[in-house]
Amino acid sequence: MDRTERLLRACRGEPVDRPPVWLMRQAGRYLPEYRRLREGISFLDMCRDVDRAVEVSLQPLQLVGTEAVIFFSDIFTPILGTGVGLDFSPGPVVAEPIRSAEQVAELRIDDPRESVPFVFEILRRLRGELEPQRVPLLGFAGAPFTLAAYLVEGKGSRHFSTLKRMLHREPEVLRALLARLTDLTVDYLNAQIEAGAQAVQLFDTWAGLLSREEYREWALPAHREIAARLDRAAAPLILYVNDGAHVVEEMLEAGPDVISLDWRVDLADAARRAGSRASVQGNLDPCALQARPEVIAAAVQRMAQEAEPARGHILNLGHGILPDTPVEGVRAFIDAARQLGSQ
Ligand code: CP3
Repeated sequence: MDRTERLLRACRGEPVDRPPVWLMRQAGRYLPEYRRLREGISFLDMCRDVDRAVEVSLQPLQLVGTEAVIFFSDIFTPILGTGVGLDFSPGPVVAEPIRSAEQVAELRIDDPRESVPFVFEILRRLRGELEPQRVPLLGFAGAPFTLAAYLVEGKGSRHFSTLKRMLHREPEVLRALLARLTDLTVDYLNAQIEAGAQAVQLFDTWAGLLSREEYREWALPAHREIAARLDRAAAPLILYVNDGAHVVEEMLEAGPDVISLDWRVDLADAARRAGSRASVQGNLDPCALQARPEVIAAAVQRMAQEAEPARGHILNLGHGILPDTPVEGVRAFIDAARQLGSQ
């Protein structure tokens, strides 16, 4: 079974010889080769530089043996086309945070193929490189709630209290912002699929800040709409929510092909709930890659067992690789996944 077949079958819950494996933020600062290419260039310029972005996207395939390639970019890339002033330091920083209905109306939601054409050039180039090797290409986008969180707050935050103030005091402004970001995300992901992405992941990093009831009101409707409007026959949808142990049922309700779980979720329990409804992805704590290789291998075996009640499983972390992660730990994780087939 080739790597593309294995991943796509696992997403759709069809039988596979063993779970496929890739890691969130697999191209990044833990790799010396990434740091070298990143020298003397800003993160945003690197996302816009097609040659470098293609090279960095392929690094984890060559250096640690990952079994899928996610294109190098950020969830904020499509925002570059909306007219919002944006920089990275190291996370996204918005020049003029969105606080009013007028600012929401001013957002330009153009065809992403015209506003951020380099994204699709990167995807086409990667697909051309990967197809002969039968390695699957993943696309991704930020979910509307997480994009809105940074756009309103202006930067990352522990509690996102400015965002929550808007939610409580001016819910109609937040609702309008989410509606526009949902349209943008649908167009952006469908354009990625058209450019060669074979599965797409939607990242809702901050939706876990919401109570279950709030999540149903502010995150779930966008997930549902995106799930319904994507070209799912061409590319399955993976939904990731960080810190979402309390909303696993709601993640399933959105109807994605795969739910991607953070490490605080009990994998066995989530896999039972997912059952024949969805496949599961995850969910090792990224910090556990600091452990000895045999400890990492045991964790991989345990996850594979715990995930069995779900129709499919993709081995991954519960969040992105951290910059201080030893490359050896990443290799141990991938090697252990590969071993599963030979036992
Ligand atoms: O996974 C991959 O390898 C693909 C590329 C990718 C990046 N960011 C590269 C990146 C993906 C899929 C993302 C998603 C992303 N970006 C999310 C959702 C997933 C998550 O981590 O929760 C979020 C919230 C962002 C916003 C963002 N971008 C933050 C908060 C930061 C700084 C955090 C940090 O790690 O320091 C970034 C910068 C960023 N995005 C880097 C990379 C490789 C580090 C950039 C650098 O300085 O070289």
